[in-house]
Amino acid sequence: MTAQAGICAEPNLHAYYLFFNIQPGCQSEVREKLKAVPALWEELKQTYPEAAFSGLVAIGNEAWDGLYPQARPNELTAFPAQGEGDRSAPETPVDLFFQLRADRLDVAYIAAQRVMALLASLTELKDERQGFRYLDCRDMTGFVDGTENPEGEHRAEVALVAEGPFAGGSYVHVQRYHHRMARWQKLSLTSQEKVYGRTKADNIEFASADKAPTAHTKRTSLKDAAGNSMEILRQSMPWGSATEQGLVFISCCRTPLHFTRMLESMYRGDEEGHFDHLTLFTRPETGAAFFAPSEGWLERAGE
Ligand code: HEM
Repeated sequence: MTAQAGICAEPNLHAYYLFFNIQPGCQSEVREKLKAVPALWEELKQTYPEAAFSGLVAIGNEAWDGLYPQARPNELTAFPAQGEGDRSAPETPVDLFFQLRADRLDVAYIAAQRVMALLASLTELKDERQGFRYLDCRDMTGFVDGTENPEGEHRAEVALVAEGPFAGGSYVHVQRYHHRMARWQKLSLTSQEKVYGRTKADNIEFASADKAPTAHTKRTSLKDAAGNSMEILRQSMPWGSATEQGLVFISCCRTPLHFTRMLESMYRGDEEGHFDHLTLFTRPETGAAFFAPSEGWLERAGE
């Protein structure tokens, strides 16, 4: 089964993220429109070969049954919300998520316009965000993001369901983080590096023994009961306006379990109360769970 290219795409320069809710009663029309999406991705790739365009549409947990009542990915559940008050990761369900990525902003924009033309009359646009590469693939906190992501063929092994009717699909979690930049910028360089467990300028990982139990890379490096690494493929990109900035965090995985455990580890922490100190400097304003079916599955609409 051919996976949508946006799941395993290599990092590039620009992104548009579109989030839609489906208008009441329009599910079957939307299902028909989504059949045309793989052809749209192909057309954009062919028309602008140098732009390295990749597309991705993912269906929200709550929208799935209305769109595709006959079959459901068996692990698709609600976003695993965490915490309370100031340090929380809320659930804000939404029906459809589009990730439109390219090395040319105009091509990503054309893709966004094409998706709008396809769906505007049947949906409500809940959020749109433009993502961009910041320096040498850094997050707006100034640290390189994505270094420990799976590489080469391992990306597909981590991100894609391998077998069964949903082979080639991926469980996708998206959170829009809003950074508390003033707070972050008050930290010394040493304290910032301790938050991640990596150096800032040259992006070198601390030795495991030197990482604080509250370090982001410590809290997100997890193993299952059999000692296997619980990996995800991150497709996040920074967003920013003149006054605000953050990260559109995107996790793609063959199971939702890995992201769920990581988020718990970041927010709830361990028995000694060690939570991820990155959560003191950035707040997720949204959080939603999706499944991104393979191209063939979308075209047949699961029939
Ligand atoms: C690693 C940034 C949220 C999972 C990293 C690194 C940075 C970073 C700079 C180190 C370099 C790298 O390997 O990529 C951020 C920022 C976030 C965020 C700015 C939010 C604003 C999350 C969330 C998760 C997550 C929500 C999962 C629930 C990971 C994983 C690693 C990582 C698995 C690799 C750990 C390792 O093996 O060393 N992140 N991250 N991150 N992050 Fe995040």
